[in-house]
Amino acid sequence: MKFLRTKKEVNQELNILQKKQITIGFVPTMGALHDGHLELVKKAKQNSNIVVVSIFVNPTQFNNKEDFENYPNTISKDLELLDQTGVDLVFVPDIQEIYPAQPSLSFDFGKIERVLEGAFRPGHFNGVAIVVSKLLNIVKPHQVYFGQKDLQQVMIVRRLVEDLSFNTEIVIIPTVREADGLAMSSRNLRLSLEQRAIAPLLYKALLKAKDELLKGNNWLAIREKINLMFKEQPGVQLEYFELVSTERFELLEEVSDQSGIAICTAAFIGNIRLIDNISIFD
Ligand code: PAJ
Repeated sequence: MKFLRTKKEVNQELNILQKKQITIGFVPTMGALHDGHLELVKKAKQNSNIVVVSIFVNPTQFNNKEDFENYPNTISKDLELLDQTGVDLVFVPDIQEIYPAQPSLSFDFGKIERVLEGAFRPGHFNGVAIVVSKLLNIVKPHQVYFGQKDLQQVMIVRRLVEDLSFNTEIVIIPTVREADGLAMSSRNLRLSLEQRAIAPLLYKALLKAKDELLKGNNWLAIREKINLMFKEQPGVQLEYFELVSTERFELLEEVSDQSGIAICTAAFIGNIRLIDNISIFD
């Protein structure tokens, strides 16, 4: 596995490879890698000749300074894992390399970023779109891999790629979970033992709500019940629990279609913010 720190190095490597007509699969990450990330890498290995992974904790997508400063860093373990998984190139730029200057461009995705993560984390998707654009321009992959765990991010990236005609195919990988259902996340590393024991509540609530929806129960009544369930559990603070159409990311008050619907949730456990989602019909 080659370790690259600069855009120039990536360029040089890829120039050689592009002449050989190989396909490039790319997995952008912020490090503190877990099996969820590795699933994306494994899929990329199946589909492409060369796999590039980036590790960059992108400051512009953090709306909370404390969250950015405490974002886990396990770089030596990450490099070991990526090497074992058969990654060809790992790109680990420093902040100057990606942001030689503060970007003056900003993105507005309209309605899809006025809800959920976009509403609760102002500026978050602007930062994601900026860094993903930069990384796509540097790596120029044939395929780029994202996890369904960050469902709204997937929709934002879809819009970005379509609106700006990036020449890449987006591949989505289902959420990888711990044995007790907790969605794998780099932020799980920050949970205390006690908090870790509470964290599977998010997925339990999603399963329960999905089950009730499929039985034909009313969404608003289900949500009310879930809100109560969270209120009764000390140590957790529910931020949102919403039914959405995944195409337009519109909040729904009832199930209107038989596809493209998900429940999305975010909750604080102490000061650690976790998100999760579940599809309803697939
Ligand atoms: P990060 O949180 O490191 O996630 C990198 C990729 O792994 C994302 O596409 C995310 O959806 C996926 N992922 C995370 N946990 C997962 C899980 N449990 N199962 C499946 N996939 C999972 O998302 C980001 O970084 C950043 O926003 C980034 C796209 C790199 C831009 O900075």
